[in-house]
Amino acid sequence: RTLRIGLIPGDGIGKEVIPAGRRILEALPASLGLKFEFIKLRAGFETFEQTGAALPDETVAILKSDCDGALFGAVSSPSTAVKGYSSPIVALRKKLDLYANVRPVKSVGGAANPIDMVIVRENTEDLYVKEEKTYDTPEGKVAEAIKRISQRASSRIATMAGEIALRRQKIRSAGSPSIHTSPLVTITHKSNVLSQTDGLFRSTAREALSAGRFTSVAVEEQIVDSMVYKLFRQPEAYDVIVAPNLYGDILSDGAAALVGSLGLVPSANVGEGFAIGEPCHGSAPDIMGQNIANPIATLRSAALMLEFLNEEEAAARIYAAVDANLEEGKLLSPDLGGKATTTEVLEDILRRL
Ligand code: NAI
Ligand code: MG
Repeated sequence: RTLRIGLIPGDGIGKEVIPAGRRILEALPASLGLKFEFIKLRAGFETFEQTGAALPDETVAILKSDCDGALFGAVSSPSTAVKGYSSPIVALRKKLDLYANVRPVKSVGGAANPIDMVIVRENTEDLYVKEEKTYDTPEGKVAEAIKRISQRASSRIATMAGEIALRRQKIRSAGSPSIHTSPLVTITHKSNVLSQTDGLFRSTAREALSAGRFTSVAVEEQIVDSMVYKLFRQPEAYDVIVAPNLYGDILSDGAAALVGSLGLVPSANVGEGFAIGEPCHGSAPDIMGQNIANPIATLRSAALMLEFLNEEEAAARIYAAVDANLEEGKLLSPDLGGKATTTEVLEDILRRL
């Protein structure tokens, strides 16, 4: 099978880590029967300065017509508004209907509170429909925002969470070590207060996860505030978390903080039959051009993309090689307290692969 992968380095360290993502895909053992074709695509602030568009139409068109998946590095967004500029990744999620944001968070072996979870965040609705208004009253201004929850979006995100839980089980059995032995999905909500909106999310997610193919998946639910408490005290209790947009946004940054460096945490933006792997970090202008950025978030993002292209075995190989590098702890980049360069970390992981 040949997979066509769009490569969008973007700005800053995106240009250093995306080539590492390409290298690990190319280095997968031939016995897996996977070949790759790479298509270099542009997006980001530098592209905006050169072409007037942060996300050229050509990039979107090629992703849609020619690619099976993509890797996105990071883009720099100016801290003050620049006329005509808006974030390309946000636009890309809309244009390709990438309705799920998937973020696995895994601790390095031997951690006191081991973590191996994935947060599956609904990416199209909830309070982020951005329908806000402000009006005057005799007592002063009042602002309101719409929180929209639909059965359709809740059902498809819960179904995806169930499928991810099953797939993680497969990846574990393909040799990627984990603290979990059986699949579990935890539904996050606040339906004790928001009985209609979060109530609909909760009941729809329960319904979707009661489908026959999920019989081996245990389903639990938890109110979002107590989930934060438990996430900090007992993170090993979570396997797959499914959440509406806002809670998912907050939980996923919080969970990422528990594992020590932004340079370790991958993500994927996923839609029907398409996935873009994207490290969670930004363009890191403070370390760019020095060959010291941690490539692991991108290597794991490449593996995550492969999961959504139904290449679990290839994904498991990459995860295991990364875990082995971290566990040995000899060749670590500076964000993890080591002295190794981007290239040295990559070479060590390629050797293990
Ligand atoms: P950042 O994630 O770029 O950096 C935060 C800190 O983490 C910095 O000290 C950086 O050196 C470090 N860091 C990040 N990735 C690392 C890696 N792979 N290895 C080692 N250290 C790493 O966030 P910051 O500084 O707030 O934003 C910088 C630029 O990136 C801004 O223009 C911002 O708009 C953009 N950004 C883009 C994102 C995206 O493309 N999805 C996400 C977040 C920020
Ligand atoms: Mg966020």
